[in-house]
Amino acid sequence: MIVSLMDPATDLDGVLDVEEQSFTNPWTREMYLNELAHSRVARVYVLRAEGRVIGFCSVWLILDELHINNLAIHPDARGRGLGTLLLDRVLGAAAQDGARRATLEVRRSNDTARRLYRRMGFEMVGTRRNYYTSPVEDALILWREGLVPPGDAVESG
Ligand SMILES: CC(C)(COP(=O)(O)OP(=O)(O)OC[C@H]1O[C@@H](n2cnc3c(N)ncnc32)[C@H](O)[C@@H]1OP(=O)(O)O)[C@@H](O)C(=O)NCCC(=O)NCCS
Repeated sequence: MIVSLMDPATDLDGVLDVEEQSFTNPWTREMYLNELAHSRVARVYVLRAEGRVIGFCSVWLILDELHINNLAIHPDARGRGLGTLLLDRVLGAAAQDGARRATLEVRRSNDTARRLYRRMGFEMVGTRRNYYTSPVEDALILWREGLVPPGDAVESG
């Protein structure tokens, strides 16, 4: 398993495939290219296995805040710890680049994602009423505090 920044030339088709299989309002090729071309804070990380993109995580790094916009694993590869691994690597990379806290929104009904985020130390701080469409649903706003670069973690015990 390799986690790295997306190279649009080789990875974008794979990201779009995972995106389309994962979300009811998927981002398009143009949205990704625009995001990467015009935003100095945007990054997309990809998880590859055997040369194929099987997951991605798109983020904005704004000063010491990591805003996680999307996280998805190909349906064929879910339930094996890969979403957890990808998010862990992204948080580590962002912490190395100065992030100290991370935030994201998740559908209230998305139990799998909510459990994953709880495992990774995210806590609910609020909601946005009817934030999502297709279907309309509330977003839960989660934050994870105290990010530290992987090498700086304090050993306990
Ligand atoms: C949310 C999502 C990214 C999770 O990815 P994933 O790779 O399935 O996540 P994980 O495998 O790390 O964790 C999922 C479950 O598999 C379990 N699991 C992890 N490793 C496992 C293994 N080796 N064998 C069996 N189960 C395992 C985890 O314990 C977890 O179970 P739980 O939810 O009951 O606690 C994925 O479901 C997805 O792409 N969903 C659609 C898009 C989406 O909703 N994204 C989130 C938007 S906010």
